[in-house]
Amino acid sequence: MQYGYFDDAAKEYVITRADTPLPWINYLGSDGFFSLISNTCGGYSFYKDAKLRRITRFRYNNVPHDEGGRCFYVCDGDTVWSPAFLPAKTALDFYRCRHGLGYSVFEGNKNGVAASLTVTVPMHTDMEVQKLVLKNESGAEKKLTVYGVSEWCLWNAVDDSTNFQRNWNIGEVEIEGGTVYHKTEYRERRNHYAFYSVNAPIDGFDTDRDTFLGRFRGWSEPQAVENRTSFMSVAAGWAPIAALRLSLTLAPGESKTLLFRLGYVENPEDRKFESLNIINKEKAHAMLAAFDTEAQFDAALDALKTYWTSLLSRFTVQSSEEKLDRMVNIWNQYQCMVTFNMSRSASYYESGTGRGMGFRDSCQDLLGFVHLIPERARERIIDIASIQFADGSTYHQYQPLTKRGNADVGSGFNDDPLWLIACTCAYIRETGDFSILDEPTPFNNEAGTEVPLMEHLRRSLRYTVEHRGPHGLPLIGRADWNDCLNLNCFSRTPGESFQTCSNFKSGKAESVFIAGMFVKYGKEYAALCDRIGLSEEATDVRASVEEIEQATLKFGWDGEWFRRAYDAFERPIGSRENDEGKIFIEPQGFCVMAGIGGPEYGRRALASTEALLGNEFGIEVLHPCYTEYHDYLGEISSYPPGYKENGSVFCHNNPWITLAYCTVKDGNGAFGLYKRNAPAYIEDKSEIHRTEPYCYSQTIAGRDAKTYGEAKNAWLTGTAAWSFVAVSQGILGIRPDYNGLIVDPCLPDTMDGYRLSRLFRGTRYDVTVRRGEQKGLIVNGKPVPGNTVPLTDAPVCYVELTV
Ligand code: GLC
Ligand code: GLC
Repeated sequence: MQYGYFDDAAKEYVITRADTPLPWINYLGSDGFFSLISNTCGGYSFYKDAKLRRITRFRYNNVPHDEGGRCFYVCDGDTVWSPAFLPAKTALDFYRCRHGLGYSVFEGNKNGVAASLTVTVPMHTDMEVQKLVLKNESGAEKKLTVYGVSEWCLWNAVDDSTNFQRNWNIGEVEIEGGTVYHKTEYRERRNHYAFYSVNAPIDGFDTDRDTFLGRFRGWSEPQAVENRTSFMSVAAGWAPIAALRLSLTLAPGESKTLLFRLGYVENPEDRKFESLNIINKEKAHAMLAAFDTEAQFDAALDALKTYWTSLLSRFTVQSSEEKLDRMVNIWNQYQCMVTFNMSRSASYYESGTGRGMGFRDSCQDLLGFVHLIPERARERIIDIASIQFADGSTYHQYQPLTKRGNADVGSGFNDDPLWLIACTCAYIRETGDFSILDEPTPFNNEAGTEVPLMEHLRRSLRYTVEHRGPHGLPLIGRADWNDCLNLNCFSRTPGESFQTCSNFKSGKAESVFIAGMFVKYGKEYAALCDRIGLSEEATDVRASVEEIEQATLKFGWDGEWFRRAYDAFERPIGSRENDEGKIFIEPQGFCVMAGIGGPEYGRRALASTEALLGNEFGIEVLHPCYTEYHDYLGEISSYPPGYKENGSVFCHNNPWITLAYCTVKDGNGAFGLYKRNAPAYIEDKSEIHRTEPYCYSQTIAGRDAKTYGEAKNAWLTGTAAWSFVAVSQGILGIRPDYNGLIVDPCLPDTMDGYRLSRLFRGTRYDVTVRRGEQKGLIVNGKPVPGNTVPLTDAPVCYVELTV
């Protein structure tokens, strides 16, 4: 069943009922100020860092989960209602939420009053603006009391929810007209404050939460709202809020517009105050003046829409598959931008207070956004490489604010370094910018250690070559891509981190997955060497690739599929010899993409994958699931069967199989899998799948789970980038290369072709693919051998391919 529908022309998902199985959220903002917003107007805002600069509060483990956030109340006679249903929870006569690209619109009607609330973070503005239009659609005059409320977080979101003995003393606000300024800790070391304001005279305010709500009451029934009043409370410690009250009279047919604005300001150290402890509000005044009229707001929303249309126009397709088109043209690319902005920090599943940016996560995310924002991709690559150590290993995570490696998590995830090669090669193929290889880049951010980026790539490869185990396969370290395959961990202590402990130093556990990665990215590195005249190095690297390829064929092939690993006692994992975990997805994806054993092994591995791991939502991580905890396997066996790394469909790695199908030229296999978990294709199973039908989630519970088919951890997942790579480069077959654009589709029988527009190195490629007798590539009317469209200076290039 569905809870809404796609409006492709508007690039919106339209939610038609408030009771979606889970909060269905959207992201606002693209530079510094970010907001999460759910389909009932919940969520929170922060500036750059969801832990250290949290602007509004979010209650983890709250019931109801999604209450709070942006609270609007409309009081009309005896009835109190909220335009987005929450928090008042009054049944509405009409409800609709439209999540668009960088904005959300809520429409709620009650008793002849129609509300329309549009929320966005205008570009280059550190402010969320909420435009509320109230229209009297009844035949009689309406006297309404309206409240808009924000609850402040005391900046550090972790401290805010733990350190009450201090925090309940420090909260401070200032009130000036219709604006409440939140200035906790500004008196001492902070140089930033926030504000919440409305562009009309207010009739009252509250800034102390508990006064506003009243004893024993929650956000659904504040005392002040029930009394249609404000207590004019001024927060002194406790929980500061901004509750603004306005009275409106609407004649029949009349409508009024209010602009609520939630902003963030930083002041220079010497200009913090206007007078003793009174904050300097100049910047806030300017920001408010810039968004004081409906026309200003509408212009900003138009500009935002234009921005997205132009960004997404870099890659658009028209095919007979409407759902594929909508994923490619809108939602998958949008999600790639969200993962660029958020990494794995802030969603309804990632608390924003946990992990920093992952090395491997960031490298893989880049594969999905490099064609959209190449300049920022370059900066990201240098940031990532700067946390690498001189021996080629690397910190596993870094903090976005400081860009320093995170010592708590440390290093030792042996797949990490190779992802740097993957993303750098992707960047150069996209941009042609070889100069990035010369960019002086430090190790562990230490000044004076800078070497050209190319040297980082070299050491990444060397690290794998020099860290191999008894079968000549790469050592796994703490874990490889599968964070939960912890073969040196042997943890018996409750709560101990599987990722960072290592209680057993065998120096033996090996990963066939890393072997596959090495063969794939080793070949890419050698090709790069060839391009920049390092032919001797290319030869050496190819020799190492050959060695690891042979070791994989000898010790990594199980007969019908690739094995997963060898444990600390040299026993195979992911082999028919095992009772559980006989087969894993990851090496099938990477070894086949790397071409190990050629198409013959590839087809067999994929047939086994489908037969043993396939379900209606995709390919599960492993089979059969582990039913017991095994200390020699680690966290993977800690999850109940069918969940997370223990046998869910871990969506992130499904596109590897799609690409593996493309590697063996099986278009039906590729598309057949793509469709099984591409959100738009399973929209009609929303009551089972439960997360948003317009973005990928991290996992979908597997066959052995109690809730088979249920997705979790929506939005921030490597699935976004890899799915885009799989559909754009695999199925549609448009691959940037050093000297041109490859057009090499791998279509299912059900698709006859497509039209596509792709911006590549300043040229717009207008590509038409169709089936026919006269096979071949035609560029600007002239036949071209092979499948690479050569680079050109022309603004437009017409490409036709008959397959
Ligand atoms: C999470 C991590 C990612 C890891 C995956 C599998 O998505 O962010 O780095 O590869 O889980 O364990
Ligand atoms: C847990 C999760 C895994 C994630 C890791 C790091 O192990 O199962 O998916 O990558 O934590 O946060």
